[in-house]
Amino acid sequence: MYLVNFCIAINIISAFVQCDDITKQSDLSSTIKSNDEHQITNEDTDMTAVEKVNVKIYYETLCPYCINFFVYYLQPEIVSLHKYLNIRLYPYGNAETKEEGDHYEITCQHGESECYGNKLHACAIDIIKNVTKSTLYNCCLMGNQSDDNAATECGVQMKIDADPIKECAKSDKGNQLLKDYGEKSMYVGYPGVPFILVDGKTSSADVFKKDICEAFIEPPPPCKT
Ligand SMILES: *[C@@H]1O[C@H](CO)[C@@H](O)[C@H](O)[C@H]1NC(C)=O
Ligand SMILES: *[C@@H]1O[C@H](CO)[C@@H](O)[C@H](O)[C@H]1NC(C)=O
Repeated sequence: MYLVNFCIAINIISAFVQCDDITKQSDLSSTIKSNDEHQITNEDTDMTAVEKVNVKIYYETLCPYCINFFVYYLQPEIVSLHKYLNIRLYPYGNAETKEEGDHYEITCQHGESECYGNKLHACAIDIIKNVTKSTLYNCCLMGNQSDDNAATECGVQMKIDADPIKECAKSDKGNQLLKDYGEKSMYVGYPGVPFILVDGKTSSADVFKKDICEAFIEPPPPCKT
């Protein structure tokens, strides 16, 4: 057993108060149904065949541990290793989806503004087709409360038009995307967020780079520094 920082949903009321430290069991991986092997592909790069490691991140936008992970761990690794990663973000976290007649009502752990932030992230992934770029954009949002102002400012800095992203987040499309991420997240099932999978194995902020680099058969140059 070892201690790890997670945002766990105890119930909606306590969730507004605080995200908690919980004790994580060391055999979490037995509960993970998602179990991709890593692949050799040539997307997002001009090299012919590059070995890539799969990274999946389940998170929510206002969880302090998620913010810490994105700003201090994910962002620098994306900058140095993006050519060697298949990265997928799942911005849903500990939200809950209820079917209400013909639409879906989503409740987020840190309230309405977190649901909106999650939708901005989901819409950015949908609209910015380049995954490296949308991930870096979402890292920038994470460092700035993931609100409309962040969407605009990060857009200016990264030369991304934020208007369609904000429109999407305010529309049914944003709700639909969030609901879909909810289904994918529930399928995996995790004890708290951030929940990080490197080639199907659980990882955490402190060992994120190490886990990625150890997953390669032939570690790329950024792993050697
Ligand atoms: C995607 O974005 C990254 C970072 O901006 C860039 O290095 C890469 O060339 C882009 N890929 C494609 C296929 O445009
Ligand atoms: C917050 O947004 C600004 C752009 O307005 C960006 O320069 C900065 O890096 C962001 N903060 C973080 C921690 O990502």
